[in-house]
Amino acid sequence: MSAERLDGYETGVEYVEHWQPELAPPWLDAVVVEGGLAPPRADASSAFRYLDLGCGRGTSVNLLAASCPQGEFVGVDVMRVHIDAATALAAEAGLANASFVAASFESLLADPPAPFDYVVMHGVWTWVDERNRALLVRLLDRVLRPGGVLYVSYNTLPGWTMALPAQRLLLALASGSGEADPVARLHHAAATIRALDDAGALAVTANPGARWLLDEIARREPGYVVHEYLHAGWRPIYVTELLDALAPLDVALAGSASFLEGRREYVLRRAQRALVDAADATPERELLLDFCLNRSLRRDVFVRAPRTALGAAEVGRWLLAQNVLARVPAEAVAFELAVPAGRLRFDNRATREVVAHLAAAPGSLGVLARNDPADGPTAADVLAARRVLLAAEVVLPADPAHARSRHRVLNRAILRRCDGARPIPMLATAHGVPLDVTVADQRSLRGGGEDDGTRPSGARPYQAIHAALDLL
Ligand SMILES: C[S@@+](CC[C@H](N)C(=O)[O-])C[C@H]1O[C@@H](n2cnc3c(N)ncnc32)[C@H](O)[C@@H]1O
Repeated sequence: MSAERLDGYETGVEYVEHWQPELAPPWLDAVVVEGGLAPPRADASSAFRYLDLGCGRGTSVNLLAASCPQGEFVGVDVMRVHIDAATALAAEAGLANASFVAASFESLLADPPAPFDYVVMHGVWTWVDERNRALLVRLLDRVLRPGGVLYVSYNTLPGWTMALPAQRLLLALASGSGEADPVARLHHAAATIRALDDAGALAVTANPGARWLLDEIARREPGYVVHEYLHAGWRPIYVTELLDALAPLDVALAGSASFLEGRREYVLRRAQRALVDAADATPERELLLDFCLNRSLRRDVFVRAPRTALGAAEVGRWLLAQNVLARVPAEAVAFELAVPAGRLRFDNRATREVVAHLAAAPGSLGVLARNDPADGPTAADVLAARRVLLAAEVVLPADPAHARSRHRVLNRAILRRCDGARPIPMLATAHGVPLDVTVADQRSLRGGGEDDGTRPSGARPYQAIHAALDLL
């Protein structure tokens, strides 16, 4: 480890293995269509180009490249050690459609690649400094094609308000510690804040946000904490600031990549919803939503210069035609969910039919719709079931199986890592979207592993899902 920094970003320690399911093209397409806009792919078999800016160790890119053989994936990150790890995994799995570039955003802008249909930035925007955010806008202008999708996750206010003073103190103490190694700087700073807590410093003891940050530091790997909270440019923002910054790109907000937070009827109380719905303009509405939810992280999906607006009927048809894949075995589905506004209950005929339908294999849901409600769920019922099961993370948007997917080869490489220092708790599928598979389940899949009892109903039902997806 070294004392390297780039524009205040700590590059002297590796980031953790990390994957966000919402980065998958079928997931992003579903968000875009729910927002009434046309997805960048004509259909699930269309070729596309996909760029991950600040890709970290490239886990997402590799999982996606193995799951979507029709896509060409590029990951860019300034840290050579990240790019080397990403390239090694791609080579081991023979992923000819994944490539990785060790470059800063600034140097990429000097020689930008051809435009992409999808550009994602997870954990980047509010982690880098003002200058790099401006560079990113110029870069996006060159690399995001009209009609293309942009995914940006970022830390937000007001949700970060309480923890912000402790993060500022952490940063100041770490910078002033004189230690060369970022992890040593982190430990020095955290120890001082803990001592302040013991000494009864009011801004620590009276502020749950400070305690939360101390817990976070204790719970997480140092590489995670340094990359999340120790950059000089790290600064949570209001949603309106992001919308202003992206205005030169002519992007329209399609919606949240969180299928739960994206539906106001699931997360807001009635009075809150009336206030949010009454806002005329997107920035004001989104800001009100963030205040209602006290959101500290947003995952926004945009479309650049959208040409086609879809009507409600077209949206419904598209969503019922798109495949979905069971993420949770039928036996473990709770049919209710705790949400900020209370409990969301969805135990009904349509949700039960969808869950049963997907138990054997992924598929589209239109086949379940009946014309006569006496015969079974209508198209509207099935659509509602799809929405709530996505929000509850019971199902994932997916593509029909891609014949040339490299998922099995990548999965074997991931299984070889499951007893190592950096296991990857995800496996690729043939369906355009990777699946979360715990390390314990990976050991069972590999053979010889025991059910570790951490699953709600043991590993066996999950094994049925894994077998249905032919993961190995
Ligand atoms: C918090 S990590 C997130 C990594 C990855 N997106 C993920 O979710 O796992 C931010 C990443 O951005 C990269 N990064 C920071 N500043 C950069 C710059 N100026 N140019 C290119 N990459 C940068 C870092 O090396 C780091 O891997």
